[in-house]
Amino acid sequence: MKDGLNSEKTRILELWQKLGFNHYLRSMESLLQKIEEFKQEIAATEANTAELVEAFRIKYLGTKGLVKSVMGEMKSVPNEHKKAFGQVLNDFKLFVESKFETLKENVVGGAEAIGNTIDLTLPGDPITVGTRHPLNIVRNQIVSIFQRLGFAVAEGPEIEDDWHNFGAMNLPEDHPARDMQDTFYINQDPAWLLRTHTSSVQARVMETQKPPIRVICPGRVYRNETISARAHCFFHQVEGLYIDENVSFADLKQTLYFFVQEMFGKDVKVRFRPSYFPFTEPSAEMDISCLICGGDGCNICKHTGWVEILGSGMVHPKVLDNFGIDSNKYTGFAFGMGVERITQLKYQVNDLRLYSQNDVRFLKQFTGVV
Ligand code: PHE
Repeated sequence: MKDGLNSEKTRILELWQKLGFNHYLRSMESLLQKIEEFKQEIAATEANTAELVEAFRIKYLGTKGLVKSVMGEMKSVPNEHKKAFGQVLNDFKLFVESKFETLKENVVGGAEAIGNTIDLTLPGDPITVGTRHPLNIVRNQIVSIFQRLGFAVAEGPEIEDDWHNFGAMNLPEDHPARDMQDTFYINQDPAWLLRTHTSSVQARVMETQKPPIRVICPGRVYRNETISARAHCFFHQVEGLYIDENVSFADLKQTLYFFVQEMFGKDVKVRFRPSYFPFTEPSAEMDISCLICGGDGCNICKHTGWVEILGSGMVHPKVLDNFGIDSNKYTGFAFGMGVERITQLKYQVNDLRLYSQNDVRFLKQFTGVV
């Protein structure tokens, strides 16, 4: 076999000499010889640290490494010999790669590698923990105060039908009071809309539960308002509903008075002003003494010493009848407040837009408030 190869080699040599490829042949031979030498050098290489393994990779397998440059010789090999020579080069490449893998395996996972790549004395990466959103902080506080009075939490959909948002709450179509809540309609006939208040959740509770009912309904609501420091197209409410026998306006007053004292402290004063809501009769708005100026008058209370915080009233008998609750037997009160407003008073946030701008400088100020 060897003889066969040798005679083949001689034959090619003679042929190439005849054709004048002498010079080329010599350079090919010396390249093959060189590859042999490289192989020996590579086989003898030892690398017992990650750095040395990397140095090996760069020297032999890198973009400017030996394998690449030897491969580059292919372009000067005549076509009929490309196949055989290509095989030699490829074998060489595989040889270097397998050596590299062996060196790597010996080092990675070894004590040496760990010692070299991880510095156990470095300080750890800090884990940044976010903060609760101020509106969530205040909503949780409101919910927990009412829970202590025995109110359960009820939730409902943000996309509502006309009946639960308006009709059932004694706000039939064409009722002028609908103007107070400029509404985003999603669909006409049947009308679907983004709920304008969480009274729609009260409607769903009355639809499915029998008195006694004692619920609070926290949630996001939507109104078509121009966005400014004082108004937004979405905001958050907590509404409450209490229906039982013999529920009176005195119960309403005492419940809400308890709430503001828990929320703002014992010194806060309240006052009720007559108001109008289609779903309550009588209706009242509740003000508290201004916490910012203590009642002396400032920008927040528009120099009156009082700030409005919620609407309330005795549930209109028509609303009870809409849900088959006997209005001769049962009475109830309801109230609704904006979480943004309570948060503004509690933490002196003067621009509503801050709540939804996601500015961490604002949000971080609530670190530590739970
Ligand atoms: N639903 C009213 C609003 O969003 C608030 C309210 C609730 C008033 C319950 C009275 C009773 O404006």
